[in-house]
Amino acid sequence: MKALVIYDSVYGNTEKIARAIGAGLEPAGEVQVLPVAEVHAGQLPDLDLLVFGSPTQAFGMIARPKEFLKNLPANAIKGVKVAAFDTRMSVQDVDSKIYTFMAGLFGYAAEKIEKGLKSIGGVPVIAPAGFLVTGREGPLKQGELERATAWAGEILRRL
Ligand SMILES: Cc1cc2nc3c(=O)[nH]c(=O)nc-3n(C[C@H](O)[C@H](O)[C@H](O)COP(=O)(O)O)c2cc1C
Repeated sequence: MKALVIYDSVYGNTEKIARAIGAGLEPAGEVQVLPVAEVHAGQLPDLDLLVFGSPTQAFGMIARPKEFLKNLPANAIKGVKVAAFDTRMSVQDVDSKIYTFMAGLFGYAAEKIEKGLKSIGGVPVIAPAGFLVTGREGPLKQGELERATAWAGEILRRL
């Protein structure tokens, strides 16, 4: 199996999750974990699995992953199995009525990533996942790295 985990990260938390996912996928074959800035569209079509993640900012992806997905042609990953993830803050931790309302309305990056991946031919194998940070710059909540590795294990079971 050939898998690629693509991520972007401002403060390093999403990178840590991407690496934990990569570690979880490794038993199944050849796995690369790369920042989106280092990925070329030509690397994508011969993959068996593409996992794509971004930090959530302003209820969506940050600029680089968003641009990357937007610029890919319509069938760039036709038939490739995909899984989307993000990092995010929990509404309980932010504890703001307005934030809870806005997050309920506009959501998080992972759902938008899945939509973007589907629009270029990707086939989701698992529901989008959000991994939690404790504040705007992190760190990750305890147990999230382990949860990310377990999520990757669940992806493998579904391939
Ligand atoms: C400008 C800004 C906007 C943010 N907006 C959101 C948001 O809408 N929803 C959310 O859950 N977290 C939000 N966060 C928290 C980010 O999700 C957090 O910075 C990210 O998970 C950290 O990942 P990274 O270390 O890989 O950059 C925001 C953070 C910043 C700095």
